[in-house]
Amino acid sequence: MDFSGKHVVVTGGTGALGTAVVGSLLGMGATCTVPYRHEAEAQRFAHRGDPNVRLMAVSDLADEAAVAKVYAGVTPWASIHIAGGFAMGKVADTDKAALMAQLDGNLVSCFLCCRAAVNAMITAGGGRIVNVAARPALEWRSGAGMTAYTIAKTGVAALTVALSEEVAKDGILVNAVAPSIMDTPANRSAMPKADHALWPKVEEVAATIVFLASPDNRVTRGAVVPVYGKA
Ligand SMILES: NC(=O)c1ccc[n+]([C@@H]2O[C@H](COP(=O)([O-])OP(=O)(O)OC[C@H]3O[C@@H](n4cnc5c(N)ncnc54)[C@H](OP(=O)(O)O)[C@@H]3O)[C@@H](O)[C@H]2O)c1
Repeated sequence: MDFSGKHVVVTGGTGALGTAVVGSLLGMGATCTVPYRHEAEAQRFAHRGDPNVRLMAVSDLADEAAVAKVYAGVTPWASIHIAGGFAMGKVADTDKAALMAQLDGNLVSCFLCCRAAVNAMITAGGGRIVNVAARPALEWRSGAGMTAYTIAKTGVAALTVALSEEVAKDGILVNAVAPSIMDTPANRSAMPKADHALWPKVEEVAATIVFLASPDNRVTRGAVVPVYGKA
């Protein structure tokens, strides 16, 4: 796959999965805009200093002004929306603030970035969008105990499929991946006794994302692709 001359926005690009996605894109010749919230994370970012990375401090991507800043002046070939976060919590223990935090961080941020990307890509004549859902978005029963997260990621899945129908004729192919628990340092630390060999590696999930975002993806759209590995 060749991303030479292509610009890609990667939200959540300084996180565990995002770092793998950005690394893969850079290796294929892309330039990347990577918004981040926390300076410490930007300092740790493995691709900091790469001349083809445009790191950009933003507040919260659930905020329209922050999203407008990310997309100002760029015409992305692809926009990859990884930003999001997980929280456990039964419905009985989830107040409105906790619900809204899950919806904002996972769904509203994704929606606003899709909207900005679509407006830029329609003018450019097409492009690729890849969102990141999660396994419970496809398997609702598995979302018990994490219902707010499940609702938010199910929204990301529905957004992906409906938006794909809206913009296919504009040459924009929209897809999502739905990872199971990935092999990240945070998950290893939270679940030290789990069989980590079963978990998909972030580089493996990144490979699926990068294909969906690439010019080699000519016809795939409206898919929410399970990336479960052996789990
Ligand atoms: N890890 C898993 O096992 C797993 C499984 C299924 C799905 N997923 C999904 O995959 C994605 C990446 O997961 P990960 O493990 O790589 O997580 P991660 O390391 O925590 O990275 C997530 C990134 O998104 C950013 N972010 C979150 N909310 C944001 C917001 N409202 N505005 C701007 N940036 C925001 C975070 O910034 P801060 O550091 O500033 O918060 C961080 O850089 C997430 O959407 C997650 O829900 C993960």
